[in-house]
This record gives sequence, structure tokens and C-alpha cells, in this order.
Amino acid sequence: MEKIIDENKQGESLVLEQKQGNKRKLFIESYGCAMNFSDSEIVASILADQGFNTTQNLEDADLVLVNTCSIRDKAEQTIRKRLEKYNAVKRDSNPKMKVGVLGCMAERLKTKFLEEEKIVDLVVGPDAYKDLPNLLAEVEEGRDAINVILSKDETYGDISPVRLNSNGVTAFVSITRGCDNMCTFCVVPFTRGRERSREPQSILEEINDLWNRGFKEVTLLGQNVDSYLWYGGGLKKDFDKATDLQKATAVNFSNLLELCATAQPKMRIRFSTSNPQDLTLDVIETMARHQNICNHIHLPVQSGSNRILKEMNRLHTREEYMALIDNIRRIIPNCAISQDMIVGFPSETEADFQDTISLMEYVKYDFGYMFTYSERPGTLAERKLEDDVPEETKKRRLTEMVDLQQEHSGFRTRQNLNTIVEVLIEKESKKSTTHWSGRTPQNLVTVFPKEHYKIGDFVKVKITDCTSATLIGEAIGLSENN
Ligand code: SAH
Ligand code: F3S
Repeated sequence: MEKIIDENKQGESLVLEQKQGNKRKLFIESYGCAMNFSDSEIVASILADQGFNTTQNLEDADLVLVNTCSIRDKAEQTIRKRLEKYNAVKRDSNPKMKVGVLGCMAERLKTKFLEEEKIVDLVVGPDAYKDLPNLLAEVEEGRDAINVILSKDETYGDISPVRLNSNGVTAFVSITRGCDNMCTFCVVPFTRGRERSREPQSILEEINDLWNRGFKEVTLLGQNVDSYLWYGGGLKKDFDKATDLQKATAVNFSNLLELCATAQPKMRIRFSTSNPQDLTLDVIETMARHQNICNHIHLPVQSGSNRILKEMNRLHTREEYMALIDNIRRIIPNCAISQDMIVGFPSETEADFQDTISLMEYVKYDFGYMFTYSERPGTLAERKLEDDVPEETKKRRLTEMVDLQQEHSGFRTRQNLNTIVEVLIEKESKKSTTHWSGRTPQNLVTVFPKEHYKIGDFVKVKITDCTSATLIGEAIGLSENN
């Protein structure tokens, strides 16, 4: 593999890995969660062995793949719009191109995709990417192809991802696949299957390889990282059938974090997403022990009302969540905490919503992602509960919540004024060619004049100003972490 610098449509410089001699062109784009972006890197790697290099131009692509998201109805509508665009390109300028859909929508809609969208030639679910070479052979012979079989052991641990759209500094490393939690609103357990963990050795090898190639930060990915459990392979739910030896030598998430942090003590380690009922004190203590594990926990709660949490099948109460927050703050006083929230879940009353607001006041999250409830076909909530909160009520609650979060984000951000923070430089600031942009361990975007510093440097930055979500400052030197 050689590294070449390409220019995408926005003119941002991208480092793409291309295999010499590859003639076919793959256009691949991803929607939705970080796991999809990470999966697309696995797909690009599988296809690099089939003679494909990536392109940024739909017009000259032989194969167009879109990695799709089903989490909310709006996400699916976005994909449908993209398919219309592909249709137009195929009709007007690229009649030879083949189109495949990957990811959660592929898994959810299966053959319906081929029926509903004439443009689609190929449908591949999240556990079937290794079958792509066979499926493509079918497509080349003029037949539609589909594989949406979910697996009990596929983790793609043996595939070394091609880094797409990479800044060369930060990368995603997936550690678990699937989810066993069955939150009643969520389509993920249906589209990504049961939970399984990736072998620790292959995770460490990927991290070591990234470090050797100049990467400085990894984010360990999973729907529920704290539930990570390696006991020799297989589904998490089958752990009780493991042998005594397998049980005794099992690696949990806290062990894995320790292994990663020790293997590369200068590499920043992040992880996402944590589920309150699975985040243990061990994990928090491991974070506290290792300076290179970033002090940030993304800890979605969805609602602050015990009644709604129960209806959502979230496996904890408001009080347990608050106790967890207290523990995090006690063990890691400067830990950033972020949230995901859903407003307008079936039967949510004004009082339930106020419980969520008061929980937000209690935690004062650093940032968050807030959504109105979107009913997903096949979920327990869709089958058992009526989507009865009027759209305008959902919207009003969302606005109130977003405003409050902005206040809290501003409050947290301002606490950095006149302090010195460590920033890992990732790229040029979008707003100014004379400034770098990077993040603090707490995940706060920070911009400062470039001076003689370069991408990939850990820099100490004195914070002189801020907006609600961005720190502004001046570098005062390299940090000892370099
Ligand atoms: N554990 C996952 C969660 C994925 S979904 C992770 O790795 O992040 C991300 C967020 O989308 C959820 O936390 C939830 O807040 C929101 N979400 C999921 N299903 C939803 C639905 N049906 N309607 C609205 N928001 C939803
Ligand atoms: Fe979805 Fe709940 Fe899992 S939000 S991804 S079912 S933890």
C-alpha cells in the first residue's frame, strides 16, 4: 500500500491508501454511527484485494456502495435520497456503475430493497462483508445478489482496515459487534445481531500497527463497549456455557482497556458507547490509572423518568444512573460526560419530561445528542406501544432540551478559560487556514494559531476564549507526551 494525497470535493486533503495495480474504482460512503464508518474501512480492505481502489467521484465509479443507517426514519429517508442521486448519475453519465447497499437498512429491508429500488444490484448485511467477492461475481454476471445472514462469531478481527478519509492521526478500532440489550425503541439488535467480542490480540495488533503508522488516538467501538467479553470466541450470551478455563482467562472491558493503554502508553485511547448498567467501577478506576485513556465517557441515558426507562427496557433506574455519575466524578473529577436522549417516547408525560430535565440539571453534561422518538418497525415499542406523543409536543420538548444542553455545554466549556489543556492536532481549522484544530482529552474542539506545530503533535494550549462548544487559545509548547 502506498499513501497518496487526494483532494475531495470540499478541497480538504485526504490521505487515501491505494493499492498499486488496482484498476477498478469503488465509491463508498457511510451514514449513521461510527461503527458504519469503521465497517466501510473493512469493506474497502476486502475490495482492495478484488482490484478496487477508492474514488471520490460517482461519475467514474465501477461500484458504488452506501453503508446505511436505520436508527430513525429520517436516516432511512436520507439514504433513499442518495439512491435517487445515484440513479441520476447512472442515467446521465455512468451507465456501467453497479450499486450496493450495506449496513442496517440492508439487514432490515433485505429483498425488499431489490424490489423497491431498481437502482440497487447488491444488498449486504453487516455480518456478510466477507462474502462480497462472491456477491460481486454474481452482480457482474447480471444477477442481483444478497446476503443478510447474521453471524454468531464474525468480528472481522483478521481484516486490516483501509483507512478512508483519514487525517492520519485518529482512527476507529471496533471491539464488539451487535447488541443484546433490546432497548424497546431500538432497531440495532435486529440489524446487527447478537453481541460478540473481538479477540484482544487482534485489537492490540491493530493499535500497534496504527501507532507505527503515525496515528496518535484510537476510539474503541461497540454498541455497548463495557459489555466486552472475550472467552475464546462466540456470543456473549453463551458465556455461561464456556469451560472453567475459558471463564478463568476471560478478558473483560476493563482488562482490555488496561492492555491497550499499556501496549501503547502514548496513544490516546477513547471508547464509545457505554451503557450505564454495564459501566463498572473497574473501568472507571482503569481510566483513572492511565493518563492516556481520555477522560470522557459517552453515557446515554435516554430519559430521566423511571417509568419511561422501564418502558424502554433500559436496565437501570434514574437513581442508579445518578450514583454512577457520582462515582465517575469522585474517581475522575475532570471527566467529561456526554449523553443521548430521546424525547416523546410513547406515553411520555410532561412530568416524565421534567424528570429528564432535572437529571440534565444534576449531571450538567458536557455535550449530547438529542432526538425525537421515531417508531421503528419490528421493535417491541412499535409492536406494543402507541406512538402517542404529538409531533409538536416532541419538537417543543426537543427544543427545550437542546437549549438547556447548550447552556450546560457553555458552562463546562467556560471552565477551561485561563487553564492549560493538552490538544492533539488533527487538522487545519475549518474557519482559518492559519489555525490548527484538535481536541482535548475531554473531547473539546480547540483551535489555536499554527506557529511551528504540526498535525499529530500533542500541544499544551493556554485557553483565552471560547464559544459554547469550542476552545480558543495559544500554544505554549509541546506536551511531554510527544
Ligand atoms: N449503543 C449505541 C446506540 C446506538 S443508537 C451506540 O453505540 O451509540 C444512538 C442513539 O440513537 C441512541 O442512544 C438513542 O438516543 C437514539 N435512538 C435509537 N433509536 C431511536 C429511535 N427509535 N428514535 C429516536 N432515537 C433513537
Ligand atoms: Fe440500541 Fe440499546 Fe443496544 S440503544 S444499540 S439496543 S444499548
